Amino acid sequence: MTSDEQQFEQLIDGILANGYAICDDFLAKNEVDNLLETFSKRYEEGKFKEAGIGKQSEVQKASLIRGDEILWLETDSTNSAERVLLDKNLAFVKYLNQTCYLGIVDTEIHFAKYDVGKFYRRHRDTFQAQKGRILSVIYYLNTNWIPENGGNLIIYTQENNVEKAITISPLAGRLVCFESEKLDHEVTEAFAERFSVTGWLLNRK
Ligand code: OGA
Ligand code: MN
Repeated sequence: MTSDEQQFEQLIDGILANGYAICDDFLAKNEVDNLLETFSKRYEEGKFKEAGIGKQSEVQKASLIRGDEILWLETDSTNSAERVLLDKNLAFVKYLNQTCYLGIVDTEIHFAKYDVGKFYRRHRDTFQAQKGRILSVIYYLNTNWIPENGGNLIIYTQENNVEKAITISPLAGRLVCFESEKLDHEVTEAFAERFSVTGWLLNRK
């Protein structure tokens, strides 16, 4: 088994057991740095938009729920930093389809930036009218992140009918993956700029 496959296996074990999984060092330091460079370039070019909550007309209302700015990636991007991420994501998809028969036929993936003071209230990723989202994947890009920066991902799970909150720090290189339809989650207020790439693996085109 290659080391990539070991990471995929670790993720799959977690998803099957708990509905979510965390894999540290999924992205290498230089991959994170290259992505951040592309991220900043695109941000400075003014390419990012305030994220919505489904309906385009409701951006103002959306800001009470989520404050991140996003930029969708082109799946055929030739930018080398994006290509590395997209290809790693595709390798994971291929492995999931081969080992778990998930029937993933498409992906959607965006950069996300939370400014200081921004958050994303508790939600589920399937609120956008059933796009066929099976798994949510989040790649974190925050080097030197300290607990005081907040911006944690909190995943809510059920254990013997009791809700349990899992707190996950958005550390550079870390990949978090969870079942989109099953788990509520939120991003707590960030006290430093917070960078990530979020994707969904879809069973529909
Ligand atoms: C989302 C989301 C979590 C995170 O974009 O839907 O829940 O940790 N992101 O960025
Ligand atoms: Mn979400």
